Amino acid sequence: MSDEVSSLDFGPLTQLIGTWRGNKGIDVAPEPEGDETHPYYETLTFEPVGDITNAGKQTLVVLHYRQIVQRKTDNEIFHDETGYWIWDKAASTIIQSLTIPRAVAVLAGGQYNNKLESSKVTLEVGAKIDDPDWSILQSPFMKDNAKTIAFSHKISVEKDQLSYSETTTLDIYGRIMEHTDSNELTRC
Ligand code: HEM
Repeated sequence: MSDEVSSLDFGPLTQLIGTWRGNKGIDVAPEPEGDETHPYYETLTFEPVGDITNAGKQTLVVLHYRQIVQRKTDNEIFHDETGYWIWDKAASTIIQSLTIPRAVAVLAGGQYNNKLESSKVTLEVGAKIDDPDWSILQSPFMKDNAKTIAFSHKISVEKDQLSYSETTTLDIYGRIMEHTDSNELTRC
């Protein structure tokens, strides 16, 4: 990290910075005949990018993250996600931008009004396909066959423990299903 970046105030994102590992992951995912549950482990890395100014008047501080998820049964990487966590201090807004290799991208947002001094930080963001602010973009194939219609994510950090739960609502196989993921991780 450069001196310039390390002197920045990452606010509620500060406690995320680092590398985390966890092996208590539970994924519930769609299958043609019903849902399937997969236990998993993962590595989640957050690195400071710096600050960014938009239109000369909005200042954001930004972390880049990478999430690599492996199925316990065969160690296969079955989810690979990357994006940014962004804090807009002036607007008390948290943003998560994410993309996955299925050709789906999400820009999820939420308010952050908690005290920064608190030892536990909880960030909550969400997006809906028809939301004018926080929405979802996907390929024509995914729109027609495995459409993501909503996303919500809650992540909490206290010292060296991180936990999250997220729900991706899908329109797939002729039904609406909640594709859920949660895990508990420890800072490496
Ligand atoms: C820890 C996080 C996640 C894991 C472990 C995971 C895993 C899975 C699995 C196992 C499937 C079933 C199809 C397959 O076997 O590949 C699936 C389907 C899907 N996932 Fe995820 N997923 C995660 C997060 C997400 C997120 C954040 C999104 C989008 C915002 C997403 C979007 C989808 C979509 C659209 C499908 C339907 C594709 C299909 O089944 O053909 N997933 N996911």
